[in-house]
Amino acid sequence: MKSQITVPNLYKMKEKGEKIVVLTAYDYPFAKMLDEAGVHIILVGDSLGTVIQGKANTLSVSMDEMIYHTRIVADASKCAMVIGDMPFMSYQTSIEDAIFNAGRFLKEANATAVKLEGGAAVAKIISAISKVGIPVQAHIGLTPQYIHQMGGYKVQRDEEKLMSDALEVQTAGAFSVVLEGIPSDIAAKITKALYIPTIGIGAGPSCDGQVLVLHDLLGMHDRHIPKFVKQYTNLRDVAKNAIKNYVDDVVSQNFPTKEHCY
Ligand code: KIV
Repeated sequence: MKSQITVPNLYKMKEKGEKIVVLTAYDYPFAKMLDEAGVHIILVGDSLGTVIQGKANTLSVSMDEMIYHTRIVADASKCAMVIGDMPFMSYQTSIEDAIFNAGRFLKEANATAVKLEGGAAVAKIISAISKVGIPVQAHIGLTPQYIHQMGGYKVQRDEEKLMSDALEVQTAGAFSVVLEGIPSDIAAKITKALYIPTIGIGAGPSCDGQVLVLHDLLGMHDRHIPKFVKQYTNLRDVAKNAIKNYVDDVVSQNFPTKEHCY
């Protein structure tokens, strides 16, 4: 049996130039598929709010909701590292709250690490959480929890700020950093400047790894698909067809037939 991916494994992968594959998941069947398909990290993202709960943004997601979904995903993951995403206001209120809530992901949900959004502004929080032995993945660039400050989900282009955020989260003890919605050339420079792995989403091919929201990749929504997403299938149409066929079969009394009866 293969063992679970660890933080040192990820550093080695960066050193060797091996790409790190990351996807989000929120439930047992998909987490199991990701794990079996060789995904290295399963992120239980607070994208839960938009993808699973149908909300307009991620801000209302609670700690209890994140713990519930992270525990289910961790139960399904034999090889992939599981990272729990710290929801809005679970780490910004105080260092104590941040450590307590990060700890819940490891104690109650069996995650290996946590992720939180922000650069230099949250460096002290990253440092405090990682000092108690909880690996922290940082997340800079387009940070969805800052939607109201950014005025929407906008590509972030301030190279000086992005580089300084990246260096500060690394110094604070982050073991990895998500680079979201930034120009590819800036992401390439940051990836070169850091010894910790960068995981890109809308940040081009030079990052040490890539992450996508699973439901975008599978085409499960009828909402706008961002430019950075590659949709590998259209599961919404496949599923809707199957459901429609079932409806038709029941209505027309073509299901159940003899073969489905005891
Ligand atoms: O919440 C999430 O799913 C994320 C990823 C898209 C990086 O933060």
